[in-house]
Amino acid sequence: MSMNEVVQSSAPNGAGYKSFTIGAFTFGRDEFFARIAWPTGTHVLSVDVFLRALQRDVAWDFFYGTVNFDSVIGTVNHYGTVDLFAGRYNESYRKAELDYVENFESGHLRETFKAMLEDWTNSEFDPFASPAETGKPFGEKSGSNTSAITRRRVAANRMVGVPGDEQIRTDASHPINRMFADVSQDEPLLEAEPGFENEVAAFNLFAYLSRSDVTWNPSVVSVCKESLYCPTTEEYILPVIHGNDRIEWFVQLSDEIRWEVEDGDTGKKRAAVTMKAGDVAAMPGDIRHQGYSPKRSMLLVWENGSPDLPRLIAAGQAPIYPVDF
Ligand SMILES: [Fe+2]
Repeated sequence: MSMNEVVQSSAPNGAGYKSFTIGAFTFGRDEFFARIAWPTGTHVLSVDVFLRALQRDVAWDFFYGTVNFDSVIGTVNHYGTVDLFAGRYNESYRKAELDYVENFESGHLRETFKAMLEDWTNSEFDPFASPAETGKPFGEKSGSNTSAITRRRVAANRMVGVPGDEQIRTDASHPINRMFADVSQDEPLLEAEPGFENEVAAFNLFAYLSRSDVTWNPSVVSVCKESLYCPTTEEYILPVIHGNDRIEWFVQLSDEIRWEVEDGDTGKKRAAVTMKAGDVAAMPGDIRHQGYSPKRSMLLVWENGSPDLPRLIAAGQAPIYPVDF
C-alpha cells in the first residue's frame, strides 16, 4: 500500500467506536447515528441506514454508476477511481454551494469503508439481512460480525450448476426462507446428448432463490458475454438509492415491489412504479431508484455489464431508454 492508501482512524470515542478520515471527509458514529463532515457541511443519518448502504457499496465494489446512501451522501464508480460526494446529486445542496466531491483510488476508499464497516457493526447486527431477521445495530460497541460483513455475492463464470459453477444452495447450508415455504424444490430433468453432459445444465431458479439468506444482494447466476442475470430476494427497503449509468431491466418473479424513481442528477421525483409478479420494466440510464418490498419477493435484475456503456451514453452513442415509443 502507498501512503495515501493507509486507513486513517482515531481512537475509540465514548461509545467505543473509531472515527475515520479520508481526504477532507470524516466519518463518526455514536449509539444511534453516523455523522459525516466535509469542508462545506455536515450530515447525520441513522446508523442502520448507513451500515446497510455501506455494506452494499463494499460488497458490490461500488457497483454500476451511483450508490446514494440517502439524498446527500454516496459514491460514483469510475471503475478504477471512485467519487465520494456530499450533496452533489441534491439540487438544494448544489444551489446553496454546500456540495462537495472528492475522487479516490478505488482500493483506498474500499479499505477505509471496510475498516469502518468492521468497527461499526456489532455482533448482533447483519447489515445484509432483513430487519425482521437480525438484531439491532444501535448502542455502544459490542463485538463484531466479520463473517456476515465479509459475505460475497455469488458470481457464476457461465451458469449456476455447470461444472466449475456449483453454487446451488443445499438444505444443509441454506434452509428455505420462512416466506418461501411454498416454493417447489423440484429440479428439472435434463437429458443431454452423449458427449455434452458437461456443457448442458439446468436448475430451479425459484428453489435457488428461496434459500437466499440475504436481501437486496444480487447473485450473478448466468453470464453470456456482457449479459448478466442477477436475481435477488428483497424484503423491506433497498438500502441504497441506486443511480443507473446504463439501462437496467427488472423482471418481478414473485410478489410485489414498489419503486420510487427520481431524476439521477437532481433527485426530483419522476415516477412510482408498482411491479407485481410477471411484470417487466426497464429503468432508464439517467434515473435513480429505491424499492420497497412489503413481503419477501424475488426479482430478476438483468444487466448489460459492458464497461463501454457509460462512455457511449455520455457521447450520445447509446440510448438511455431501451425502446422509443
Ligand atoms: Fe439500478
